[in-house]
Amino acid sequence: MNRVFRLATAPIRFLFFTLLRAFPESVAGPIVFETKSSVGRLFARRLRVNPRLKNYMNLGSANDRLDGYVAVDFFSSGAGYGADLRHPLLIDDDVFDGIFTEHTLEHLNYKEVAGILSECHRTLKPGGTIRIIVPDLSIFVENYVSDNLSWFHDWEREVLKPRGRSMISRMEALSFETQEHGHRSAWDFETMKVFLTRAGFTKICRCSFGEGSDARLLQDKDAVDRTMLSLYVEASKSTIAPEITRTAGG
Ligand SMILES: C[S@@+](CC[C@H](N)C(=O)[O-])C[C@H]1O[C@@H](n2cnc3c(N)ncnc32)[C@H](O)[C@@H]1O
Repeated sequence: MNRVFRLATAPIRFLFFTLLRAFPESVAGPIVFETKSSVGRLFARRLRVNPRLKNYMNLGSANDRLDGYVAVDFFSSGAGYGADLRHPLLIDDDVFDGIFTEHTLEHLNYKEVAGILSECHRTLKPGGTIRIIVPDLSIFVENYVSDNLSWFHDWEREVLKPRGRSMISRMEALSFETQEHGHRSAWDFETMKVFLTRAGFTKICRCSFGEGSDARLLQDKDAVDRTMLSLYVEASKSTIAPEITRTAGG
């Protein structure tokens, strides 16, 4: 949004945000988010990327600025490029060598993830790689079923205590991971593989922290609250174009 537009709309925005204070956060939050999305998309510009260069994208970057990466996050989040990942990206086909996304896809529902993974596939160059890190709910389930209390105490120390909370019970960890922080989808390797396959990706593999096929994509955060509960996956865009099926006489 340019400066003239911001100045011209300042009184309207002031009135809008003042009125919103009358509503509880659960109502005002989504209204602000959807308004920012609509205005942001209305004024969005196409991201120009020179396909002849090596290009990488950090999807859901928040404030992270990785060298040689385009940082993409929600409008007015301060990222290099503003976008709503629930909608098609204004980016050309076949421009990125790699896409990195950490702890972001779980903020979208399954339908929205299917959409953004297709967009990632479209914008990757043939042979390009996507590296995905999301919370792995199967880790929580396995530790729950095997009654591994020490894992849950570690989780409490790393995740809840810094937020000034204590764990009510082990089930709270599963509730936290699926219900709080705007999380909208739960993941394990099996589920992620289905979504990546449907988006057209090949060579889908489970990897681990700091391990992968492209050194430039190894941007994983090393904090314990990430490594103890994350799923690390990589997948490629095939270099072979999908076959076009010709109909008789076509
Ligand atoms: C938990 S943060 C992860 C930030 C960073 N990648 C990291 O690993 O710390 C999730 C990010 O997803 C972004 N996000 C969530 N929903 C989004 C949407 N619909 N469009 C764009 N960004 C979105 C948020 O703005 C936020 O920066």
